[in-house]
Amino acid sequence: MSYFETNFWPRQQYQNIEKPNGNVCRSICTSVIVGFFMALFVIAVWNVSFHRSGKSYVVLLDASREVIHKTSPRFLSFGLDSSLLRDMKKLPINDERLVNLARHLSPAFVRIGGTSADCLIFNETVEGNMRRNPVDGEDISNFTLTDTDYISIYDFTSRAGLRMLFDLNVLIRTPYNQWDDSNAKKLIAFSKGREMKIDWQLGNEPNSFHHVFDRIIPPDQLGKDHFHLRNLLNSLGYEASILVGPETNHIGDPDDKGVNYASAFLVNDGHSVDFVTWHQYYLNGREAKVMDFIDPAVFNRLPAEINAFQRAINISGRDIKMWLSETSTAYGGGAPELSDRYVAGFLWLDKLGYSASAGVNVVIRQTLFGGNYAMVGKDLVPNPDWWVSVLYKKLVSENVLHLESANNSGTLRLYAHCTPETSLISGVPAVTIYGVNLDVHKARISIQGNWIRKNAKVLLYILTGDFLKSSEIRLNGGILKLKPDGSLPPFTPVIIDPSQIITLPPLSMAFIVIHGAEIPACSP
Ligand SMILES: *[C@@H]1O[C@H](CO)[C@@H](O)[C@H](O)[C@H]1NC(C)=O
Ligand SMILES: *[C@@H]1O[C@H](CO)[C@@H](O)[C@H](O)[C@H]1NC(C)=O
Ligand SMILES: *[C@@H]1O[C@H](CO)[C@@H](O)[C@H](O)[C@H]1NC(C)=O
Ligand SMILES: *[C@@H]1O[C@H](CO)[C@@H](O)[C@H](O)[C@H]1NC(C)=O
Repeated sequence: MSYFETNFWPRQQYQNIEKPNGNVCRSICTSVIVGFFMALFVIAVWNVSFHRSGKSYVVLLDASREVIHKTSPRFLSFGLDSSLLRDMKKLPINDERLVNLARHLSPAFVRIGGTSADCLIFNETVEGNMRRNPVDGEDISNFTLTDTDYISIYDFTSRAGLRMLFDLNVLIRTPYNQWDDSNAKKLIAFSKGREMKIDWQLGNEPNSFHHVFDRIIPPDQLGKDHFHLRNLLNSLGYEASILVGPETNHIGDPDDKGVNYASAFLVNDGHSVDFVTWHQYYLNGREAKVMDFIDPAVFNRLPAEINAFQRAINISGRDIKMWLSETSTAYGGGAPELSDRYVAGFLWLDKLGYSASAGVNVVIRQTLFGGNYAMVGKDLVPNPDWWVSVLYKKLVSENVLHLESANNSGTLRLYAHCTPETSLISGVPAVTIYGVNLDVHKARISIQGNWIRKNAKVLLYILTGDFLKSSEIRLNGGILKLKPDGSLPPFTPVIIDPSQIITLPPLSMAFIVIHGAEIPACSP
């Protein structure tokens, strides 16, 4: 409402008008006339302000096109950092509330990985003083994972209906710098003995080992190590499990080292990995500012990095899909009071949308619990990104559509998928258009196309925050909160006709579900 105040006549003018001047009728008539013109003036000011304070967009979708990509049903996944295994007492893995919050995000992979994965030794006590990672001070001393703790982490994933993706230690090596599989063998055989269903990876950010551990594993050797692990998994009863790698970082750096490492890996792994993986962060958690979280230039880094990694795949000559196997807004544990707040949702939702549109198969959010980028707080209350993720699971399927009109390099960034069958009304095909409005003004959207059925209805789910660093998030105006029994509240949409203009508030996110969409690619 501030523009009314700033654009209004000065108070002085009202006083002049209201001054009594002897003739009562004349005074009243003048007031009525002035009042009438005031009203016109207010409407005019309001119109001008309205048009100045927002942009209009037309959304076009070619209904005749096939689905452009099909992501994994576990597309939206998340991690629990291996460093949490150092002190299991602090990890509320047996707390029903955490199991419940994780279950609401099922199906998903839960990646147990990170720098500490390469310090983890299963059921063997190792002498050694605590050492710190010279890059960010993280603990890089070796530690023991006991069978009891291993079982409890597996039980957590299975009770929550999730699939564990376990990162094995690649730094246990022979004098010839080949991977020594002895400890992994114990862990894998132990897992098989308990009929655990697990997928696997080997090592974390190997192209940065010289900075972190003062050790080097060349990419061709790492490729051979993965081939070795694939054979080991096959021989120990895990032939149906997937293996992903090489978990590279620094993709998109000007020196291309990360990209070159990944492509050299891919020509030497003997086709042992099912998906090729890398890690992505936009910002340094220690330096990031709130404005970075709504700056389109920051958002535009992801397309450039995905393109750089695709180049690595192309150079290798392989036809293989990529995963963002560890990703969040800011590295170094996230940015305090930003990466777990309302404002982090923009980068998260845009990452999901852009990645799916670019053919990324899985996106693993760092992290569910722990650090400043957690989706669930230390108090086991969900942060805004958890709610964004739950809505995503409900309203967005793995079938990705091409949005013709999207110019997603600016402040309005929209993506389209078929709506999941579970969210259809009486089996009528539907499309979900979702994304972010980073503008400080409203965005007015008109969805057009002859694919919209006559009786179609648009269900709007608009997410806003009271302020950017809010720990709360609102859906269509109401604060999202779990019910006391831990179940989800009803997600009540605003229902409009397709011909109506959709107004996205400033700095908002939205899921727009069009029920009654004549799109063959989305027919159940
Ligand atoms: C753990 O290690 C000890 C000694 O190395 C061994 O005796 C024991 O069987 C191991 N336990 C499991 C579950 O592998
Ligand atoms: C940690 O374990 C690895 C593999 O056994 C070993 O090479 C390394 O020296 C150990 N690090 C420390 C600090 O003990
Ligand atoms: C990778 O190869 C595909 C197929 O040849 C091509 O369409 C795409 O543009 C290439 N991408 C990059 C980044 O080189
Ligand atoms: C897309 O949006 C950006 C940022 O708003 C703008 O600079 C660019 O010109 C737009 N491109 C097209 C093709 O409209």
